[in-house]
Amino acid sequence: MTQDAKHVSLPTLVPPSDEFVRQANVSGMDAYREMYARSVDSTEEFWGQLAEQELHWFQRFEKPLDWNPPFAKWFVGGKLNVCYNCVDRHAMGGRGNKAAIIFEGEPGDQRTITYRELQRLVTRFASSLLELGMKTGDRAVIYMPMIPEAAIAMLGCARLGIPHSVVFGGFSAEALKARIQDLEASVVITTDGGWRRGKEIRLKDAVDEALRECPTVRHTVVYQRTGSEVKMEKGRDHWWHVLDESANENVAAVELDSEHPLFVLYTSGTTGKPKGILHTSAGYLLQSAMTTKWVLDLKEHDTYWCTADVGWVTGHSYVVYGPLAVGATTFMYEGAPDTPAFDRWWRLIDKYKISVLYTSPTAIRALIRQGDHWPERHDLTSLRLLGSVGEPINPAAWDWYYRVIGGSRCPIVDTWWQTETGAMLISPMPGATPLKPGSGTMPMPGIVAEIVDNHGKPVEDGREGFLILKKPWPSMLRTIWGDPERYQDQYWSRFPGYYFTGDAARKDKDGYFWVLGRVDDVMNVSGHRLSTMEIESALVKHPAVAEAAVVGKPHEITGQAVCCFVTLKKSATDVDKLGLELRQWVAHEIGAFARPEEIRFTDSLPKTRSGKIMRRLLREIVTSNTVAGDVTTLEDMNVLTSLASQHDED
Ligand code: WTA
Repeated sequence: MTQDAKHVSLPTLVPPSDEFVRQANVSGMDAYREMYARSVDSTEEFWGQLAEQELHWFQRFEKPLDWNPPFAKWFVGGKLNVCYNCVDRHAMGGRGNKAAIIFEGEPGDQRTITYRELQRLVTRFASSLLELGMKTGDRAVIYMPMIPEAAIAMLGCARLGIPHSVVFGGFSAEALKARIQDLEASVVITTDGGWRRGKEIRLKDAVDEALRECPTVRHTVVYQRTGSEVKMEKGRDHWWHVLDESANENVAAVELDSEHPLFVLYTSGTTGKPKGILHTSAGYLLQSAMTTKWVLDLKEHDTYWCTADVGWVTGHSYVVYGPLAVGATTFMYEGAPDTPAFDRWWRLIDKYKISVLYTSPTAIRALIRQGDHWPERHDLTSLRLLGSVGEPINPAAWDWYYRVIGGSRCPIVDTWWQTETGAMLISPMPGATPLKPGSGTMPMPGIVAEIVDNHGKPVEDGREGFLILKKPWPSMLRTIWGDPERYQDQYWSRFPGYYFTGDAARKDKDGYFWVLGRVDDVMNVSGHRLSTMEIESALVKHPAVAEAAVVGKPHEITGQAVCCFVTLKKSATDVDKLGLELRQWVAHEIGAFARPEEIRFTDSLPKTRSGKIMRRLLREIVTSNTVAGDVTTLEDMNVLTSLASQHDED
């Protein structure tokens, strides 16, 4: 990365200040060590006690865990409601007038929603869903911009036991359709559109396109955000505000089993078909709430901002469920960081006196590039803690985040976790763990992580290997929606009995974990997972394409960028035009954020004798333009020479 080319010397160990330790939810390394030891010696008791203390139950659970590998049931026999825990108990228990959500839209509109108001809005929305005939167990797809109604829709579904799947607003109609179909959803909750860089993202149009082939969907609910013209199909499409006219506030939170499905979130795997990651109620809620306390260190007076979209898991666990479960104030911003100018985020931090900020290395790198004068114009002294998620944070980004944004005063929690893990699993506790820049530091309580070799044997400290988890944890995924075999196969078969993360990592002699990146065919672009196979499947649907191979290429801002090698059915006359068309094609099939950075046309692809594309070699070509690795299984050496020389001519 060129940004790191300019020398950045980082401290090797950054202990928390005395002042931070004094006020922290977990103070000092001894407190962490004591809690960690207890959590692994008697894991079930540890989580059982927390579940009793921290959650509201309609009916107490009988035992903390029923583990029938790889299928877990947590807090067996208990009954609770996630929405009640996130909203009602605070609204009625002394936080009624506290801000639950503070919002600013891209055009500058502002809202503050107290816990009591949130309870009213969520209950009325749940009443509208009932009016449409929705029942516990039906599924909802939510396709919305970052506005409070996205959270209200999630919580309204949770209140009734309607599992939701939030589809990021950047996904195309095609991708939306595939998710609705896989989930067999009955209702889609959306808006006319949302604001992004001053332009309207027209969500309802995409819903209309998707619904042409989604027979299970009986209704849509459309929140009016932009006020632009949309098509409303009679009997199927309903305005949120019209339904609200006859809504009532007497919808009790349904008493649901601990293992009742809360949501399904689709994420890229190693095949072309996205995986529906299933999370259930009690375990997910407990661990997202506990990590919010331990890692984000939230207190009664914090105003906390996680910049993730609710379409990603970070938005689920750390914009909505975690912070609301602990009764915190969560800030939401609808739009782009550069609208109207590159200081929008810093302006928001100053204006709302944000105290805890949680974002991604990609965002940090993009903002560094714009120069220090943007943050310097604003008072950022309200910040006391910074967080990072989604990919490893490189030294230049760490240094800038720490110095320029945090004023060398705020610890940075580098949190490692996945859609599948539901909550942060490897992370510092900011008032305890001395930081090592670039390391997620140590496992959270209850998490037994290890680095192993190909045969599942632990490797020596300092050596690279595969990151695995040895014990079940409450917020773990329960299965892949509709595909328990794929669940078993993807996560539990590579190292039998252990959960395989798909990440490479090493552990140093002090027990700090350094996550290096994916070892499977999953790319990490701007902290978002994209599967090489998913993009390849999209490309080969194009009539001109014979074969495609996709690899991640190092990128200064986004970490990785999508690079495609394509062979054509017959040679094209205008390759530049076709290249543009194919990039557009992928954006249409999946979403604009998946648009390839580069398309390279080639006569053939490097393959093994059994016909498997050797992506590893392509990765080497895009990274270093040479091939140093093992090529003994390669079918035709000439392919490589021509691929490399093609690049020389660029
Ligand atoms: C990567 C996002 C290094 C990792 C919450 C993981 C990280 C994948 C970090 C999950 C981190 C996430 N340091 N790598 N702090 N956080 N990753 O499902 O490769 O979108 O497997 O969940 O992102 O991405 P996902």
